[in-house]
Amino acid sequence: MARDRRDYYYHQAKKEGYRSRASFKLMQINEKHKIIKRGDSVVDLGAAPGGWLQVAKKLSGGKVLGVDLQKIDYIEGVETIQGDINIESTIKTIIQVTGLKGVDVVLCDAAPNLSGNWSYDHTRSIELATSALEYAKRILKQKGNFVVKVFQGDMFNDYLQNARENFVRTTAYSPKASRSQSAEIYFIGKEFLTAPLHKGDEFVVEINKLGSGGDGVVLIEKFIVFVKEVEVGEKVRISIIDVKLNFAFADVKESLGKFETSE
Ligand SMILES: C[S@@+](CC[C@H](N)C(=O)[O-])C[C@H]1O[C@@H](n2cnc3c(N)ncnc32)[C@H](O)[C@@H]1O
Repeated sequence: MARDRRDYYYHQAKKEGYRSRASFKLMQINEKHKIIKRGDSVVDLGAAPGGWLQVAKKLSGGKVLGVDLQKIDYIEGVETIQGDINIESTIKTIIQVTGLKGVDVVLCDAAPNLSGNWSYDHTRSIELATSALEYAKRILKQKGNFVVKVFQGDMFNDYLQNARENFVRTTAYSPKASRSQSAEIYFIGKEFLTAPLHKGDEFVVEINKLGSGGDGVVLIEKFIVFVKEVEVGEKVRISIIDVKLNFAFADVKESLGKFETSE
């Protein structure tokens, strides 16, 4: 078989002792987006044969766990689980290994066996990426980072929109090591939000005080929400417009009149 330029990363992986050419994708993602830092705990979903695990271990030096349908051959300092990320029992096993405190980084390079039917493969890829997001939401620490591979297609935008709501900063990125004809792209979410509310959520609240910037300040499940253009004594229906790590902003959807304040 011709050793063309496209296989540069394949040969480079062999030369540098990495198990897959995909290793370079994670190196490039990390170089650009700073996903894994020293000491981080990392869970890698769809990790066989283990190239990303080797890179993750090298970058973090911390606790690294790989999960795959296939058995992953031993890597020093890395734990592995054989399991299906589309089923509930696998996340339970992961939590048994990682503990309840959560992890700093969740990665997912899982891919379905390609059938050649574009629509079918896209759907399977979205299914895996959706499972990965659900797993990440259950095991990421506040401010944790997430990387997931998705094959582009008509469900891609909905996936992005949904995934974006869970992180302070998000982007879609295609590393150089992805083959030029590949439909794959990586969603990157940084600083996982553990807020008890999301963009678009609506609540009825009473405004008891204004902050120094003049916005109303209310607490929803102990989370601070700044409400624009309200006065003390107003009862309003609000809609969350932006969620940050420790607070959110809301607009008034409907004024519900005045309520009796204690003074
Ligand atoms: C492209 S490979 C991952 C390569 C890996 N990042 C590396 O650098 O070695 C995709 C992997 O996803 C796994 N996979 C596909 N569906 C899965 C599922 N439902 N649960 C767990 N792993 C899955 C496959 O077994 C395969 O090993």
